[in-house]
Amino acid sequence: MQHTEFIKRLYNKWADPDNRWLSVPCTIAALLVLFVLVKSCQGIVYYHSDECKIYRLGYPIDQARAFTSALNEEMVDSLIKHGEHDTIAYPLLSERYFIPKNFDRYLAFHKVDAASSLSDIVAKVNVDVDRDAPATPCDTSKGNLMLVNGHHYLDENYKPDGLVAFQKTYCYEEQKALGAVVQAFMAMQQECKKQTEAQLMVNSAYRSYQQQIGTYKRNEKGYAARAGSSEHQTGLAIDVTSLQHPMRWPFDTSKEGVWMREHCHEYGFILRYPKKQANMIGYKYEPWHLRYVGVETAKRVHDEEITFDEYYAYYLDKR
Ligand code: DAL
Ligand code: ZN
Repeated sequence: MQHTEFIKRLYNKWADPDNRWLSVPCTIAALLVLFVLVKSCQGIVYYHSDECKIYRLGYPIDQARAFTSALNEEMVDSLIKHGEHDTIAYPLLSERYFIPKNFDRYLAFHKVDAASSLSDIVAKVNVDVDRDAPATPCDTSKGNLMLVNGHHYLDENYKPDGLVAFQKTYCYEEQKALGAVVQAFMAMQQECKKQTEAQLMVNSAYRSYQQQIGTYKRNEKGYAARAGSSEHQTGLAIDVTSLQHPMRWPFDTSKEGVWMREHCHEYGFILRYPKKQANMIGYKYEPWHLRYVGVETAKRVHDEEITFDEYYAYYLDKR
């Protein structure tokens, strides 16, 4: 009661026009109190913000800001839970093929493979080297761009529609592939003959799941996929050498082998297991194994010098 009276009296004094001189300092004092209150609240909110939490882990403030704008909430949480300043965390953001959803996996994988460069860490994690295979059914709805590898498998009953036989002169025994693949091979084959005088031949093309079981058993480790993990089951892969340099290695350094490597992307093919990334995706270098992906994608894979697995992870499966 007494308090109310006191406040009333104070207000009346403040509102009294005869006491105008009092109102200025009172207003200033009230504003100051308000300002301090707002700033304190802001400080508390900022202290609990992601940016500040990251900063408190020991990252400079500009890096903390970069993390919060480059990573989604889940990834920021995992960086915070990581609980320590990690020297590779910030440089990772600038990696060409950095995928935000893989951020915590890069950090974890670097701990077991510290000898690899950051770009190799990114590439390996993007293609699931850090995971046990196989995990995901192949998304066949992607058509020419479907990914088949140790981590993306085909059902044993999968058989592509529209298999077409290659002309007998271009294979040692009957071989089939999807129509677009046969067409593209013919065009490439003719140009190669003009340029090198050698005749490209299809050693092997479509192989069923059952046939791949035999191929896997017959071949040495690293040169054949397990049944269900072979691109040959898609009708999009062909093993190519030449009449002049048949299977296997002389073809690699032959004039036509070199020509094919340099020009196959112009016809929609990529060299699926290139020397540079040998072993990374589970297979050895295969200068003969071409995969049809269409001209646009083939050009990109060729120009960026990445494997199709990396291409798929970054351009088709990022989210
Ligand atoms: N040679 C490749 C890896 C396959 O068997 O599909
Ligand atoms: Zn092959």
